[in-house]
Amino acid sequence: MTDPRLEGTDIADSVLDLIGDTPVVRMKRISELEGIDCVLALKAESTNPGGSSKDRPALEMILAAERDGQLKPGGTIVEPTSGNTGVGLAIVAAQRGYKCVFVMTDKVAPEKISLLKAYGAEVIVCPVAVEPDDPQSYYSVAERLTNELGAFRPNQYDNPHNPKAHELTTGPELWQQTAGRITHFVAGAGTCGSITGVARYLKSMNPDIKIIAADPEGSVFSGGSGRPYLVEGVGEDFFPAAWEPDLLDDIIAISDEESFLTARYVSESEGILIGGSGGMAVAAAIKVAKAADPDDIVVVFNPDSGRGYLSRVFDDDWMANFGFIRECEQCVGAVLDARNASIENLLYVNPAQLVSEAIDLMRTNGVSQLPVCKNTPPFAAAEVSGAVDELELMEAIHGDPGVLSTPVDKAMGPKLPTIGVGQKLERAVEMLESAPALLVLSGGRPLSVLTRTDVLTYFSATAAALNGADNG
Ligand SMILES: Cc1ncc(COP(=O)(O)O)c(C=O)c1O
Repeated sequence: MTDPRLEGTDIADSVLDLIGDTPVVRMKRISELEGIDCVLALKAESTNPGGSSKDRPALEMILAAERDGQLKPGGTIVEPTSGNTGVGLAIVAAQRGYKCVFVMTDKVAPEKISLLKAYGAEVIVCPVAVEPDDPQSYYSVAERLTNELGAFRPNQYDNPHNPKAHELTTGPELWQQTAGRITHFVAGAGTCGSITGVARYLKSMNPDIKIIAADPEGSVFSGGSGRPYLVEGVGEDFFPAAWEPDLLDDIIAISDEESFLTARYVSESEGILIGGSGGMAVAAAIKVAKAADPDDIVVVFNPDSGRGYLSRVFDDDWMANFGFIRECEQCVGAVLDARNASIENLLYVNPAQLVSEAIDLMRTNGVSQLPVCKNTPPFAAAEVSGAVDELELMEAIHGDPGVLSTPVDKAMGPKLPTIGVGQKLERAVEMLESAPALLVLSGGRPLSVLTRTDVLTYFSATAAALNGADNG
């Protein structure tokens, strides 16, 4: 019951009363810059107390667990979460006296981990590069801890109160805030709680409203096989319980590069700081809005703030190293361009290929190193698991000729250091002092291997050209 002394004031009874009722703001500058005629607006979920849309399901899931006795006073909550759900749960737990333990992968931005700890939660970090059924995977670790601690596991991927939260709050807010005139809703999907909950409500009010999912390239929702990508919080390698494709009118796959560059573009041109997944959703929304009628109202769901991604999306060095931005036009890429065109761009071996095959490939192509990559091109940077090196293989085979017939992943060395295609050549030179070769990334994907010989050849060719120019 609310304290009668608060009656007539604007003082919220607790932080929990501040969850939801987030504003919707027109993206006026982007609309001008992109030549968009309809109304394109953004639902600013970063104004929730925990800074993200996940406060809504966190509250709903905990209230439901209290109602049905799964969560008792002083109880513990365990959840595998990439951060935002954790913050929401930690806020609700603080208000209602529960302990929180969060399990997440090492793909998550480090500041998100510090943030959860700041709310008093315990955080356990697990490797991302293992299968979901591996005992080290974050799903398995969360399962084990839940049992050991007799904890409540909200399980946002399977909990019906996750989509319910959005059906009860986000959907009605969008309907009211657009005076029932919303025509398109665009959102990223992770657990699918937000898009499914909102879609259920909006379609119940007007079945003609178009619901469009934005999805990272590689994720299963847009037809991928679950291959890795860098955008956080969205896309999956499995279908969560709230996945309801019948509610979706379209699914648009967006690359990491477009997501990150759009996040920067929106932040700089609108003054609205959004993260990579928000950038992904806006990139899809721009496409939708360009094809919409002038009277349409397209609302894009921005799940959180760019503040959580300052060391990644908004860090020039990080972006340049993945080849998302260029420090200069004629940099590492110029060396690759000048290289003998007959060399196939990315030579690689799969982890299961034999060492003898790797040696054949190196010999045929006259190269001394090969990256070891899972699957087939185009690879994600995370699919590179190591490298084989002529010299190291020679030593290994000298010690044991049997190495020739072992799989590459049993004989490979560490991954080659990476450099972005648009990074300065000085940097490549510095790095090549301690590594025989570098893996060049472009748009977050391995593009080619750069060796000392490549750089030397480039320097001597450009010096010769300069000399020629001087003499002429
Ligand atoms: C950081 C983050 N987490 C999660 C989600 C997905 O929401 P949900 O899990 O409700 O599908 C998004 C959606 O854009 C997001 O950006």
